[in-house]
Formats: sequence, structure tokens, C-alpha cells
Amino acid sequence: MSRYIAGTEHIPCVGTARAMPAVIAHRGAADDAPENTLAAFRLAWQQGVDGIEGDFHLTRDGEIVCIHDADTRRTAGRAGKVADATLAELRQLDVGCWKGEPWRGARIPTLGEVLATVPAGKRVFIEIKCGPEILPALIAALAGAGMQPGQAIVMSFDARVIGEAKRLLPQLKALWLTEFKAGPETGVRPTATEILQTLEKSGADGVGCRAHPAVDPPFMRTLRAARKEVHLWTVDDVPTAKRYLQLGADSLTSNRAGWLKQQLCSEPGAPGLPNQAPKRASGHTR
Ligand code: G3P
Ligand code: CA
Repeated sequence: MSRYIAGTEHIPCVGTARAMPAVIAHRGAADDAPENTLAAFRLAWQQGVDGIEGDFHLTRDGEIVCIHDADTRRTAGRAGKVADATLAELRQLDVGCWKGEPWRGARIPTLGEVLATVPAGKRVFIEIKCGPEILPALIAALAGAGMQPGQAIVMSFDARVIGEAKRLLPQLKALWLTEFKAGPETGVRPTATEILQTLEKSGADGVGCRAHPAVDPPFMRTLRAARKEVHLWTVDDVPTAKRYLQLGADSLTSNRAGWLKQQLCSEPGAPGLPNQAPKRASGHTR
């Protein structure tokens, strides 16, 4: 089974014949630029990433905007619920200056504006942070952007959103997101089998989860046997990336995706040679 998302062209490392699994820019080039802004997405493309990931909410007036939190306080410095605001109100906020003066003036982008940055052959992972009410507008935005099949991937922690997305647009690639939790009695949950049950029920094409010790060879075998994809976040160092690439992850989402891809691609036997010093300690999990 291919490790890559069906319907998209895989972009190999520059200068090598060996293909690498996709490295995806988490909230854009989030280490270098204010997350979920056009500046962050454009910078990620310049850095050579295979795809971008962004977070999306529906505004009071039915527009889809790119922002992680349901509230604007953290990135705009002013509290307010995104769902209670209009696009025009949200556009007045500065979501760049918290990251530094060079970014002052950055605005909350719409989904359409984010899609317009996506080059041919590259991918956009659209994480829906609200409920299924966003889907009609989302499908319209995808159609308006002229996205090719497989270029846009929808993701949500809410299996209802995935189920409804697949019902409305069966050819749209959709991933269910989940977090692992460990209990003294239960061990790590959900298990691969439990994840698979949710994927089958919702019609999801795969799972998105944290790069976690629970993602091991038996976990991968269970998902692969059912022809489901496995996408992992957030991987910001080379040893962790190698570990999960060797396990056969379909993509790795990173806050420093351009750097990570460059490191992986620059290795003689990439992927997988254990001779690359990490520039940051493992375990970065934003
Ligand atoms: O790719 C999924 C990942 O982005 C989920 O975590 O909190 O960064 O949206 P979060
Ligand atoms: Ca996200």
C-alpha cells in the first residue's frame, strides 16, 4: 500500500530519486511566523514543505476563518469568540504582533485566501475546529478554489464532522483526529482497534494522532490491514521523524517543516540514517 495520499503527486527530495513521506507545516511555518496567517503559509511554501495545516472556524456571518482557538485572546490580544464575530470584526484584529514587530498587521485569513496560496501538486490539511455546520461553506470554498482531488484533506477531532463530510462529499479525503490518554487501569486509549472502529463508522480515510509510543508496528499493521492512513503531529526533530517514517507514517506535521524536510532530504541514505544531530530536543508537542 502506498504511504502517500492517493490522488496527489508525491514530491521527492530535491536532488534525490528517493521519495520521502510528506512533511506538513503545522499552522504554517509556525516557528518562524505567526501561526495560521498568510505570512506563515507563504513562508512554509518558500521553505519547500509538502503541505500546510491550518485550523478553521465559522464566523457569525457564515465565513470560514483560519485561527486555532475558539477565542481571539491568545493571538490577537483581545478576548472574543470567533463564532460570535463577523468577518469584518475579526479583520480588525492584529494576529501578527504577538510574534514580533516584523509581523505587525497580519490579519486572520479566510479559508479561500489560504487555499489560494496552495501550489499545484501540494496539499492543504484543513482542521475543522467547530461542528458540521461549517461543511456547506467549506465545500463551496473548495469548489471555488479549483482544488484537485486529493489536494485538500479535511480533519476533525469530532467524528460527526468527518461522517457528515464524507456523506456530503465522498471523494473528499477526511481524517479523524484523536489524542491518546493513559490510565493506570486502561492503558493507552484509544487502541488501534478502537480507532479503526471510529474510522469505519465515520467513513474516515485515516487517523491523525500525536507521534506517541502507542504508534508502533502492531498499531501500524492494524490500520494498514484496513487500508487506513496514519498521519502524525507534531514532529520537530530528526530522530523522532526517522522513527515514524520508518514505521511508515503517511505524513509528519511539524512547526519547523521546511527545516525538517531539508534535514531528512540531505541525508545520503534518506530516510533513516541515524547520523543527523537534532537541532532541538525531542518531545516538542505544541
Ligand atoms: O494536525 C492536527 C493537530 O494540528 C491538532 O492539534 O491543537 O495543533 O490543532 P492542534
Ligand atoms: Ca490543527
